[in-house]
Amino acid sequence: MTLAHLGNRVVAVDTDEARVTMLRNGRVPFFEPGLQEMLSEEVAARRVRFATDFAEVLADAVVAFLCMGTPPRATGDVNLRALETSARPVARHVRGRVIVVEKSTVPAGTAIGLRSLLKKEGQQAQFEVVSNPEFLREGSAVNDDLHPPRILIGAEPEYAFEVMRRLYGSLVAAGASLIETDIVTAELAKHATNAFLALKISFINGVARVCERLGAEVRDVADLMGSDPRIGRAFLDAGLGFGGSCFHKDLLAFHSLAMRAGYEFPLLLEVLRLNDEAVDSVLSTIEEALWSVSGKTVALLGLAFKPETDDIRFSPALRLAERLLDAGADVVGHDPRATENARAALGGLRTNDDVYTACEGAHCLVLCTEWEEFRSLELGRLAGIVADPILVDGRNFLNAAELRRAGFSYYPVGAKREADS
Ligand code: UDX
Repeated sequence: MTLAHLGNRVVAVDTDEARVTMLRNGRVPFFEPGLQEMLSEEVAARRVRFATDFAEVLADAVVAFLCMGTPPRATGDVNLRALETSARPVARHVRGRVIVVEKSTVPAGTAIGLRSLLKKEGQQAQFEVVSNPEFLREGSAVNDDLHPPRILIGAEPEYAFEVMRRLYGSLVAAGASLIETDIVTAELAKHATNAFLALKISFINGVARVCERLGAEVRDVADLMGSDPRIGRAFLDAGLGFGGSCFHKDLLAFHSLAMRAGYEFPLLLEVLRLNDEAVDSVLSTIEEALWSVSGKTVALLGLAFKPETDDIRFSPALRLAERLLDAGADVVGHDPRATENARAALGGLRTNDDVYTACEGAHCLVLCTEWEEFRSLELGRLAGIVADPILVDGRNFLNAAELRRAGFSYYPVGAKREADS
């Protein structure tokens, strides 16, 4: 959509007819702030259209972006089947000199296989493979895409760089830095970036465990660490840990890639272990606050893996819900956008579209996703309708003093425990 917004003529092609019909009618199939408006605008301006016929779309394509899912296999390796399946029609239907862009996160080295597949299956075109990894975040995807700090292009011939420079010209003129490198470096940079962001989160969650034991505040420690410009404050928010479709998958894929290259990189698996521990730790806090969770009602505020999305993939909130259900708790959840997705994904989880009704009669409230609207909850009203005024803040998001004034026992992450104070 951003490419259309920048003035390019974009045709998106997919085999999923229902999805294509929905998009043709100007409707986005998931929630992402600003995307619906952008789609309506671009469809109305005829800068973007949606199709199911690969032959018709590809015949005069100059650049073909491969944007399909690259899910993990049981081994942790990336399943490249969708990428391969879509590369075949590209090979068969394009003409002339065409740039084929890896937009999906793929293991370093994928370009080599892609290039030979294109060459083998496409006799009437000349292919230039480019790696152009995506760094946008869900919940702020439109803004991230329109104002990227950097655009990474991995390519070989000058022609490929030239076309990509033209494509992103206006973003570069607006301040984005365009970084040009070779393909394998670009592919690897994407893995390393996601792994390092996940590492920062797991690191601060490990620090949080120590803070809990020593009576320090992890937020203060993170602020001090972050004030060192060599570290930076971003991605040092302790809590329930990371979810979403990228970090888990990419850590496993990076580990598996390194193993295949002959290097064991155990730190990557430790990042995942610490992330699981972050959920365990919040569960222990709930157990500590309630003595036993069996038969108690626990209300989860937030079910999406992060705010401003309805995406529940690898959501720490749902992992916590599962653990609570296993321990015999009655679990009810509310999310401003993801309630329906969560209900469909986790049998046994009760949900409610109204946050106050969800909290009614609960023995413990747990803030799992830091939606802005949770800041303006009427705490007095909440205190009056819960069975026990206990709030575990899995994201260190709410105001401790206000909650305590309203009569709540407040349990943040990475701080001295209420019971110890
Ligand atoms: C991530 C990368 O940031 C993005 O560059 C890449 O393109 C895709 O993967 P995304 O998963 O959409 O983006 O969201 P992000 O903002 O990175 O958050 C990921 C998870 O980490 C969320 O569950 C979030 O709650 C958690 N997180 C983030 C923390 O627990 N602490 C932090 O300090 C930051």
